[in-house]
Amino acid sequence: MQNFVYALIQVIHNFGAATVVGTAASALWLVRGDVAVQHRLALLAAAAWAIQAASGALFGITTFYFEGHLPDIHGIAVDALLIKISCAVAGFILAVIYAKSDSGWAKDKQLLIWRALLTLGVVALGSAAFLRWFS
Ligand code: HEM
Repeated sequence: MQNFVYALIQVIHNFGAATVVGTAASALWLVRGDVAVQHRLALLAAAAWAIQAASGALFGITTFYFEGHLPDIHGIAVDALLIKISCAVAGFILAVIYAKSDSGWAKDKQLLIWRALLTLGVVALGSAAFLRWFS
């Protein structure tokens, strides 16, 4: 049962990871200049970053529920997790700010935010590999 719950959370977490990277990449390369679509992508990105944080927390809650303690991780795994949490917080805030204010922004400022969001997604996805293999 515990593994089944982890797997369900992982499904959500994996699609969230694909979405945070995919929305920024799409905004930069597929719909560059289309303000309306980019606005919707920013809303989707904000939701995906929030889902990443929530589903990530659910991994820990599940371990606690079934085993009575939080996951036992050290060193590089903790560093990787802290990086992912920082990326999720920064990504969510940036995406929300973008969605609320993009209409009044110059093109280069919008570009800068999408580049930052893509960087955060890539860094978080890279950190996931280190969390996985050092825990
Ligand atoms: C608050 C933020 C986050 C928390 C607490 C969190 C937590 C976790 C945990 C506990 C795991 C399982 C690790 C293991 O298998 O040992 C995991 C896996 C994973 N996370 Fe996150 N995560 C967060 C954000 C993110 C973000 C932002 C991304 C990508 C953009 C991401 C991508 C992944 C991926 C791809 C895996 C699967 C790794 C694998 O098994 O190969 N996570 N995460």
